[in-house]
Parts: sequence; structure tokens; C-alpha cells
Amino acid sequence: MAEHPQLRSVLQKVITFDNVSKIFDGEHVAVDQLSGTVEEGQLVVLIGPSGCGKTTTLQMVNRLVEPTSGTIYVNDQDHSTFDPVKLRRTMGYVIQEIGLFPHMTVGQNITVVADLEGWDRDKKEERARDLIDMVGMDPDIYLQRYPRELSGGQQQRIGVLRALAVDPDILLMDEPFGALDPLTRDQLQDELADLQERVKKTILFVTHDMDEALKMGDGIMMMQEGRLLQFDTPEEILKDPNNQFIAEFIGAERMILSPLDVPVKEVMLNNVPEMKQNDSLETCLRAMQDADSDYVSVVDDRGKLVGMMSADSLQEMVDDRGRDSAVGEAPLNNTRVQQRDNIMEAVHLLVETDSDVIAVVDKGKRPVGTFTRGSLPQILTEKIWPRDAAATHNAAEESEVEDSQ
Ligand SMILES: Nc1ncnc2c1ncn2[C@@H]1O[C@H](COP(=O)(O)OP(=O)(O)OP(=O)(O)O)[C@@H](O)[C@H]1O
Ligand SMILES: [Mg+2]
Repeated sequence: MAEHPQLRSVLQKVITFDNVSKIFDGEHVAVDQLSGTVEEGQLVVLIGPSGCGKTTTLQMVNRLVEPTSGTIYVNDQDHSTFDPVKLRRTMGYVIQEIGLFPHMTVGQNITVVADLEGWDRDKKEERARDLIDMVGMDPDIYLQRYPRELSGGQQQRIGVLRALAVDPDILLMDEPFGALDPLTRDQLQDELADLQERVKKTILFVTHDMDEALKMGDGIMMMQEGRLLQFDTPEEILKDPNNQFIAEFIGAERMILSPLDVPVKEVMLNNVPEMKQNDSLETCLRAMQDADSDYVSVVDDRGKLVGMMSADSLQEMVDDRGRDSAVGEAPLNNTRVQQRDNIMEAVHLLVETDSDVIAVVDKGKRPVGTFTRGSLPQILTEKIWPRDAAATHNAAEESEVEDSQ
């Protein structure tokens, strides 16, 4: 198999498209020579205008649609050699139009694959309860209902849960959050990001929504009329869209145009020790010394950031309450940015909140670093007046001097 575009190329290949095309009815090209690799634990977004071939691409992976030519490899094996039904059960699939079975209860819908897999009743019931609870719906109320007795957004959540029920390694999600209100969508996006990071699901995710793509994607496949135009990280696509169509699709307001428009991720400090809420102040102080950090981040049981604390505040707390008291009881600084936010947003936030430091979190709200007031001068020199730009500038001045002589 030839090498194809992929993001990191150090991880295991999970889904590889090798020159895959789909032509319907002998003439209508829905997908045109698509090549690319989705690696283990990545969430890759397929995005592009209506009819560009997103759903077809997804359905070729689980063989609801067979490619006209080319090969799809799943875990390095030609997937046309698998039994389609078994293959499908190893992949969670969230259908674009939700597709709940109307004559089954919500509980039965969630565990429909578990049922095929022969799970016993108690295990299915427990799994359904856990899942529905995860999206904030009361199991006692909703598991017995029928899909028509749910709102559109609730149905969509059940569609997602159904795909997760047997804990597949690969998830195919076709506009899974399309019909949700922004708040619920944000919440479910967080849940999915969290899940992906915790259990390393490999996800192919279709959306129309560029914001969603930028938030969720480790990689983005931009499609137009069946062709893959660009497959890159969100940062690269924002910085360097490789044609006019993509630039327009991204929208001018999102494009990285100035040097300060780089993601916080690129300039943050990442030597900050991560502490649990019940760790003692003493443990925190020691961890800071070991890591040579002026801050600790404190996380909850699920690894999500609760807040940060500086060495100075920690010292004050020690004087106040003693070395053994838990860091979670201390007042923590909860100011935060997403690692993909740009530096200017982080600077504004520093100024607005009059803080010396803000936490940087990933899309699952886990701490990944800090952005500090102290690091600003360095960022300014590196990003606004980088060395080679300065050199060019000097050279230009020198040649002016020469010219005038
Ligand atoms: N079963 C089929 N028979 C014939 N043509 C089809 C079939 N399924 C899809 N197509 C065509 O293939 C193209 C790609 O369709 P697809 O459903 O993959 O688009 P999409 O990118 O998912 O669009 P949307 O964003 O509207 O869901 C479209 O032009 C569509 O009309
Ligand atoms: Mg579609």
C-alpha cells in the first residue's frame, strides 16, 4: 500500500483510504480517489458542502456502501475481506437522520447491538442506565419511553449513546450533534472529547459546522465534489488553507492572519504539576520544586481542571492552615483558555482578570499548560519580532544606508 497523507505517522493506522472512489449508477462520482489515513485515537473531521460525499465516505468504511474502486484498510487489513455484518458491529455508527427504531423503547434502542452480541438483560440494563445518565437524562423517566416521546435533541443523544453501547474502538459519526441547541451541543462535544482522550477511540466525524470541526478535530479532511482538497491539523488549515474554496469555507474571521494569531498551545509552559483535590499543600510544594514550576493545577477525579494555584498563594495557605490541609480546600484561580484559542485572547484575559497566570486546557477541559504574564516578553520577541524578520529588517536598513551613500 502506498503512503498516504496522515497527521503524525507515528501512531497505528486504523482506517486507511487507498485511492477510494464511489461512482453511483455508473456515472455519478460521489467520492473521487480519496486517500488518507486516520490513526489510532484520532478524531478526524470530514467537512464540506452538502453532497460532497461525506456520508458516502463514512458508509464505505462500514460497508453500507461498497467502493467502486480502491481499497479501505481497517487496522492494516483490506476491509473487503471482513464479514460486513461483523465489521459493522465493531464500529459504532451515528446515522445522519438519527434513525432510532420507533417500535423499540429508548433502552432497547441503546442496547440494540449489545442484544445482537448476546449480552444478558442485567448487563444491558446497567449499560443503558450508565449511558443515559452520562448525557443528563434520568434513566427512570426515559429508558421506557419511545423515540416519538422525546425531543429532537434527546433523540439525537440516544443515537450517539447507541453507537457507544458496546464500546467499539472505531466510531463513525454523521453530523451527530446537528439538531442540538448550542449548549447541549457544546456539552456533548465535551463528553465526546473526554471519551476520546480517556479511551482512545478512533473517530471519523462528519459535520457542516467549521467551529465544531476546529474544536473537535485532531485532523480535518476538507472535501469538495467528492475530492479531498486538504487533510491537515486545524491549525495548519487556519494558517495555510491550500485554495480559495477552503479559505472561503473557513471564513475570513477565523483565518490566522497576524503573527499574534497563533494558538496558545504553541507558547504555553507545560511543566505544571497536576495535583488531586485532596493532595496536601506539602505534596504540592514538593511537586512544584521537582518540576521547577511556580504553579500547580488541581484536577477533579476525571482529570478536569478545577483551578490553579501559585507558589505564593500556597505558601500563604501553609502559614494559614498548615502543610497537611488539602489543596482542594484552597481558593483556586479558575481563569482558563482553550489551547487552540489565540494568544491575543489569552492576553486580554490576563489583563481583564488582572491575573499573572491562566490555565490552558484541552478540548476535554484537562489542564495542558499555563500562559503567564512573565512569558509575554518572550512571546512578543518570538512572534512579533522573530530573529530572521529582524535580520531582514536590518538588512533592508543597511541597504538603504548604502543607497544613500
Ligand atoms: N444511493 C445513491 N445513489 C445515487 N447517488 C447517491 C446515492 N447516495 C448518495 N448519492 C449522491 O452522491 C453524492 C454524495 O452524497 P453524500 O450523501 O455522500 O453527501 P454528503 O456530503 O453527506 O451531503 P450532506 O451534507 O447533504 O449530508 C450526492 O450527489 C448524492 O446525490
Ligand atoms: Mg451526509
